[in-house]
Amino acid sequence: MMVTGDIHPAFESLAIKPRAHLTETVTLLQPMTNLTEQIGGAALFVKRDDLLPLAMGGNKVRQLEYYFGEALAAKADTVLITGAVQSNFVRLAAAAARKLKMHCHVQLEERVANDSREYRHSGNVLLDRLLGATIHSFADGEDEAGADANLEQIAEELRGEGKTPYVIHLGVGHPPVGSLGYVDAAIEIVAQLESSCLDISRIVVASGSGATHTGLLFGLRLLNVDIPVTGVCVRRDATQQRSRISSHARGIAQLLGCDNPVADSDILLDDRFLAPGYGKAGAAARQAIQMAAHHEALLVDPVYTAKALAGAIDIAKDDANGRILFIHTGGTPAVFGYADAMLEACVDE
Ligand SMILES: Cc1ncc(COP(=O)(O)O)c(C=O)c1O
Repeated sequence: MMVTGDIHPAFESLAIKPRAHLTETVTLLQPMTNLTEQIGGAALFVKRDDLLPLAMGGNKVRQLEYYFGEALAAKADTVLITGAVQSNFVRLAAAAARKLKMHCHVQLEERVANDSREYRHSGNVLLDRLLGATIHSFADGEDEAGADANLEQIAEELRGEGKTPYVIHLGVGHPPVGSLGYVDAAIEIVAQLESSCLDISRIVVASGSGATHTGLLFGLRLLNVDIPVTGVCVRRDATQQRSRISSHARGIAQLLGCDNPVADSDILLDDRFLAPGYGKAGAAARQAIQMAAHHEALLVDPVYTAKALAGAIDIAKDDANGRILFIHTGGTPAVFGYADAMLEACVDE
């Protein structure tokens, strides 16, 4: 794989977007030799975005650089965000706010029926508190528009108190600013693949809000790199997720002032690992948690990365000649927040 032709002018637009630099790191891209040997199919590799250096890392660090870039440009002193109780995005927004000397209000949505002490108080929730975020609750985790409206209401109250809030909006009606972090990551990944002469045949990544999946796909296609990118659905089925990804791709094109290079046929989704639903690990995800730990000492969480890795393993099994790159998008604190699911993966092989 070689990047051909001139670098697309959209990357110049990207370079001048407001960006708060939360990390200067190029994350590791490593072979998973033991897991590959165990599975006996395609060679498996991992991109370690779980090691991005901010409060236990994860894909959202790259996305937040662009949201906080906008917040800084707007001279905001307070950032607001909404997410599930054990949201990694929320935790990292609270962390980024501290680094940039801002305050953070987080709204925790009831998206998962889990009343365990760990879910309510450990993992990301513990870190939200440690990072000193102001915590709000929202009862209906499926009401994306309602959660957004409630956050706006809190922002309005803050304005009334003389604060300058910036709201991170994640709904489909809003520009997919966070995706820009993964358009940029595509450059990093392609450079790593080229410098190590690694001819990856497929990338596999968790597809939740779709910001990571779409950003990466968009960036690769802008670079004229046609590696297939499979998004493993972690929140919605493939039909719903497909329209989300195409809408995000159009949104990124608008943000960068370029044509959309993502064709419908580029959007590859696998929703076989979604059941029993968001925040709940099925048998394949539990097995992926165990295999990652036992063969690679790699920690994957039950909500996002275990499902994505289960997808990568499944594809690898039937693809003896393939070379699959799994994007480890983080979620490390959720290992503790979802201790019940993790314990279920701690059975003897
Ligand atoms: C650890 C982890 N991986 C993957 C995802 C999915 O990323 P995206 O929302 O960009 O699709 C998330 C989303 O919160 C996450 O926290």
